[in-house]
Amino acid sequence: YSSLKPWAMKMVFYPSFWLFFLLWNTTEAQIRYTIPEELKEGSVVGHIAKDLGLEASDIVVRKLRISAKAGKQYFSVDLGNGELVVKERIDRESLCGQSPSCLLPLQVVIEEPLQLYRVEVEIQDINDNGPVFPSSESVLNIAESTATGARFLLKGAIDPDVGPNSLNSYKLNHNDVFVLNIKTNRDGTKIPELVLKKTLDREKRAVHQLVLTAFDGGNPVRSGIAEVTVQVLDSNDNAPIFEKSLYEHSLLENSPKGTVMLTVKAFDADDGSNGDIEYFFDDQTPDSIRNMFTSDSKSGQLTVTGSLDYEERQMYEFSIRARDKGTPALEGHCSVQIDILDVNDNAPEIVLTSLPNPVKEDAPLGTVVALIGAKDLDSLDNGKVNLSLQGKYPFKLNPSFADNYAIITDSKLDREIGPEYVLKIVASDSGFPSLISQKEITVRVLDVNDNPPVFSQTYSVYVRENHAAGSLICSVSASDDDIGENAKISYSILDSKVKEVSLSSYIYINSDNGSIYSMHSFDYEKLKVFQITVQAKDHGSPPLSSNTTVHVFILDQNDNAPAVIYPSAATGSYQKMPRSAKAGHLATKISAVDADSGHNAWISYRLLEATDLSLFSVNLYTGEVRTKRVVSEQDDSSQRLFIEVKDNGDPAQSTTVTVNILLEDGLHEPISDFRQKTAEPSKTTSKITLYLIISLASVSVLCFLTFLILVMKCVRNSRNSSSCCIRRADSDGYKNPNRNLQIQLNTDGPIKYVEVLGGDMLSQSQSFRSCLSPMSEFSDFTLVKPSSTTDFKDMINVLDASLPDSAWTFESQQVSTIPV
Ligand SMILES: *[C@@H]1O[C@H](CO)[C@@H](O)[C@H](O)[C@H]1NC(C)=O
Ligand SMILES: *[C@@H]1O[C@H](CO)[C@@H](O)[C@H](O)[C@H]1NC(C)=O
Ligand SMILES: *[C@@H]1O[C@H](CO)[C@@H](O)[C@H](O)[C@H]1NC(C)=O
Repeated sequence: YSSLKPWAMKMVFYPSFWLFFLLWNTTEAQIRYTIPEELKEGSVVGHIAKDLGLEASDIVVRKLRISAKAGKQYFSVDLGNGELVVKERIDRESLCGQSPSCLLPLQVVIEEPLQLYRVEVEIQDINDNGPVFPSSESVLNIAESTATGARFLLKGAIDPDVGPNSLNSYKLNHNDVFVLNIKTNRDGTKIPELVLKKTLDREKRAVHQLVLTAFDGGNPVRSGIAEVTVQVLDSNDNAPIFEKSLYEHSLLENSPKGTVMLTVKAFDADDGSNGDIEYFFDDQTPDSIRNMFTSDSKSGQLTVTGSLDYEERQMYEFSIRARDKGTPALEGHCSVQIDILDVNDNAPEIVLTSLPNPVKEDAPLGTVVALIGAKDLDSLDNGKVNLSLQGKYPFKLNPSFADNYAIITDSKLDREIGPEYVLKIVASDSGFPSLISQKEITVRVLDVNDNPPVFSQTYSVYVRENHAAGSLICSVSASDDDIGENAKISYSILDSKVKEVSLSSYIYINSDNGSIYSMHSFDYEKLKVFQITVQAKDHGSPPLSSNTTVHVFILDQNDNAPAVIYPSAATGSYQKMPRSAKAGHLATKISAVDADSGHNAWISYRLLEATDLSLFSVNLYTGEVRTKRVVSEQDDSSQRLFIEVKDNGDPAQSTTVTVNILLEDGLHEPISDFRQKTAEPSKTTSKITLYLIISLASVSVLCFLTFLILVMKCVRNSRNSSSCCIRRADSDGYKNPNRNLQIQLNTDGPIKYVEVLGGDMLSQSQSFRSCLSPMSEFSDFTLVKPSSTTDFKDMINVLDASLPDSAWTFESQQVSTIPV
């Protein structure tokens, strides 16, 4: 700071070296010159020689010179004219600083005689320096809350000049906020200060640029400027304010953890830490929200940290607090509303409202089997459930009210086809993509007695006659598709009459397993076939039953010995025969019958003993007794023949008969042509087969025609017809009359007959008998093929084989029909 001495003389120097003030001091011989600073080199300070009273000539003679004590020589003497001139630039400020007077002492030396003179040069100040601020720019920080009137010291400017040339005044540029006040220190230095005129608001204007100008008192006036930057310091006078008071956001419920929902943003008009905002949940925020979301305290980012579930909570609402770091801290609030959006994340659920009831198989259509419902936790379409049955069942879903369904029967049930149904129910919601769940429901179908017992077959059994009573005849069995009691079967025999006798006296049935037993033995000769009707009845309610028929065929056993019919033993009569009979004469014919049938009734005759074995022979098959040779005179008139009659059973049964033949004279020989035929048996042999075929065929046709005619007649006349000789025991089997033809030719005493058994086994009892004349003397034949199942051709072969060539002949003209 320049200090201007109040007593400093104001000297006006004109820059012409002709103008100067000369201070003449004789007593002290002191000379003082006054010059302004900063004179040019060579400028005349004073005429020192003259001032010292020297002549111009003396100057050189007396060797006038200036001796400087030390330091720089600012001056020199012009030896020519004795003038003191400036040798070097003189800066008062560097020589004397701030002292008010600045004297440069000189010693002037004059020799011969040596004289010393003291000369003083006073350097006068000129305004060569302007005020200068120590720094041209300065910064002033002022808090915005500072009260008006507050003063802020500024650094003053410095002017090295002194006196009036030194610093004189300050000026501040025009502004609204500050005014300048100059404070004068006791030493007179002036200090500028800023006075706050108006409250600062950093938020309105944070920086004020001021220009301070310092002026000195010189002429012309010099000035210096300094820029003062006033920075308004923030004070925490603003609370953070959120962009929005309510943030709304929607979020899918399946948003994963870490999803950034939104970022809340608050602004704080303050600066620095006063505007540094941190975000928090409001203190009252419940844990349920804090566990679900987090807010980043720095960025205000809200993140999902829990698992959201629309079904649990559809909306979250909470407050976020923004707080700055000022002191005291200020806060702002905002509300955040998070709407959770439903996602189809819940599969529908099938709920059994009632357990499925077993349903009877005869349940009417529409019978309710079970009630089911559907549930889906999702909302709207995602929660709309559609139930359906997957697959084909006799059931359907009947929607009742609001997602409830009844499973009802849709068609007729049959336990025997489907005893149990596993219904696959599918529930699907209407979400996208749709979710599906399934459930299986088992519905049992209860049995109803709707199936009768069924026999798989009809039974035909063959029982040998004379079997032990109580033996098993057969076992029948029926099956029932139902279960339990409905399938439990009892067997019984429906009673009927067999030969006027109740069937129940013949047989007995085990009602539990259908085994049929005989109660006594059967006799083929009395009963050849009969039927048993067995009824199977289940235990249902009501019970169902069905029938089957067991055909029982009695098989013949050889239990009857042949019985000789002719000649009868009782008569004991003699057969008469003429002595004139030639060889081959038919003496008599043994007739025997066997009550058995088939092989058991196939009778053969054999001569065991005779009075004369050479005279008679017995035909093995026909029983004819013929002469072997011409009867001679020597032969006894009474001949006795002992003949065995034997059947073909196994074991064979036999009987014997004794024939007495009386040879008489004068009897005629009745038959001749027969003998003629038998004489040439070999010729007829080949014809036998043909005859037999023709005869059998004609018999068959005859029988058939006769039967037809007789049936028609019988129908009309019932029993009146005397000419009806065809008996039908059973009309059922007549449908296939020729399927198995049995021919039975029997010799039955004087009656010869052909028995034709037609049809299948069932119709065995259906027989037709052709009756032959009893009067026939000619050979007849016994041909048996029992239980034949072979065809007609086979039978012919059998016939052919079993008959010896000469044994028989067939006289068709002898056949007539008579009632049996
Ligand atoms: C329910 O599902 C079934 C089978 O997919 C379909 O036929 C039926 O139209 C659906 N009903 C509704 C109401 O969507
Ligand atoms: C039926 O029962 C009787 C007596 O228990 C038994 O002897 C017979 O063998 C049974 N029949 C069948 C076919 O099981
Ligand atoms: C079984 O036979 C009896 C007697 O003939 C008869 O009443 C009944 O109806 C028959 N049952 C069936 C199922 O044919």
